Amino acid sequence: MSDLSNRRILLIDDTPSIHEDFRKILTPTSAQHTELDEMEAALFGSEVKPANLLFELDSAYGGQEGLGKLLQALQENRPYALAFVDMRMPEGWDGAQTIEHLWEKDPLLQVVVCTAYSDYSWDELLERLHAHDRLLILKKPFDNIEVQQMANTLLTKWEMTERASVQMSHLEHLVDQRTAQFKQASEALQREIDERKQLESQLVQSEKLASLGQLAAGVAHEINNPIGFISSNLGALDGYFKQLQDMLDAYREAESAIASSEVIEQLGKLRERVELDFLREDIPLLIKESKEGIGRVGQIVKDLKDFSRVDSNQEWQWTNLHQGIESTLNIVANELKYKADVVKEFQQLPDIECLPSQINQVIMNLIVNASQAIGPERGTITLRTGLEGEKVSIEIADTGSGIEPDNLQKIFDPFYTTKPVGQGTGLGLSLSYGIVKKHQGDISVRSEVGVGTTFRVELPVRQSWPA
Ligand SMILES: Nc1ncnc2c1ncn2[C@@H]1O[C@H](COP(=O)(O)OP(=O)(O)OP(=O)(O)O)[C@@H](O)[C@H]1O
Ligand SMILES: [Mg+2]
Repeated sequence: MSDLSNRRILLIDDTPSIHEDFRKILTPTSAQHTELDEMEAALFGSEVKPANLLFELDSAYGGQEGLGKLLQALQENRPYALAFVDMRMPEGWDGAQTIEHLWEKDPLLQVVVCTAYSDYSWDELLERLHAHDRLLILKKPFDNIEVQQMANTLLTKWEMTERASVQMSHLEHLVDQRTAQFKQASEALQREIDERKQLESQLVQSEKLASLGQLAAGVAHEINNPIGFISSNLGALDGYFKQLQDMLDAYREAESAIASSEVIEQLGKLRERVELDFLREDIPLLIKESKEGIGRVGQIVKDLKDFSRVDSNQEWQWTNLHQGIESTLNIVANELKYKADVVKEFQQLPDIECLPSQINQVIMNLIVNASQAIGPERGTITLRTGLEGEKVSIEIADTGSGIEPDNLQKIFDPFYTTKPVGQGTGLGLSLSYGIVKKHQGDISVRSEVGVGTTFRVELPVRQSWPA
């Protein structure tokens, strides 16, 4: 901190002889020096070192000149620590005005006002300069030691003030640093809280799906048996009925051999009453429809099983995603033809390790949903692919109805559907979710009502199998 010491003093007085006096007192030649040392030693003891008495004194003979010197000193970064200012200077500024100007430029300057008499009362002066606590008054004629001690003490005061301000700015800097650290820490904490919340909701979602998956697997298993015997019974029934028809045909032909007209009439009435011709046409149709119905139930059960990952005997293969998208587009082409234009924004992709038929199913579900979300007016479905590091992404964006924020969390639930009965089972997305998770990937959605929806699927290029 020794570099803060400042021995520079400015004397502003219009009387040249005063400058002489100050010079003798504050910058003595060595003879005077010794004399002063002795005086000092007598007064304060021998510890006071002569070096303390060395000052650098500059002279100005009027207020304006003094301000000029002060400004130059500030510019050169060697400010004055102290100014002695004469109160009464008939030309130019008087002492009070001079001090006002000096303090305006350098508030740290210590000031001693020197006067034999003043045009102001002291109170008036202190009031005007707001200087009750920072202005010393030196009355002429003055003692040498008085001047020296004022100079010494005020230079030390300047130095201490300066040191305090350096420490203060150091402290302020520290406080700023700490504040920034706290801010960073609290931001990090907030991020962590947000991440946790998100993880929690993901966990809830996947637990929900897992338990629903188990339920679905159970239901699928239970339903599978009756489906099995119903469809085999229907097959048998179909066969039996054909045989019955053959038999009926034979009876019909045999009718001509019946002699009794009464019996023939009875048979004719009975045939009309039971609408035999209609039955013969309708029964095969009923069996056919029932077969189709049970086939649909079988498909739903299969979807449920896929969703709950019961059957996992497919093969993992390295395949090109674009091929899968193209073949899926071919399958749904009919559905899309009158509803939407398909825009492809494909990037070069490496082959990925996956269960191709399942990934195709995901793509199909998403494209069909996109198409179904588009209203009577023709829309656009944009298919985007990308590669980031070790992950590929597929986005399916539509210009359809969008999804209400409240419903966004429900769309992956099994059986959640907003489509009319018969059109949607509400399994498409839950199935897709299960498939993507099985591939250690992610599926996410962003949507704006009235604008459209974008589903994004991310899949790792390579599967990492548990060791
Ligand atoms: N692209 C989309 N735009 C708007 N809503 C969508 C979109 N995709 C899904 N949804 C909403 O999510 C619901 C669930 O979709 P999901 O595919 O699981 O079932 P679904 O399409 O209703 O029936 P399924 O796919 O079994 O035929 C839909 O009924 C629909 O409300
Ligand atoms: Mg669907």
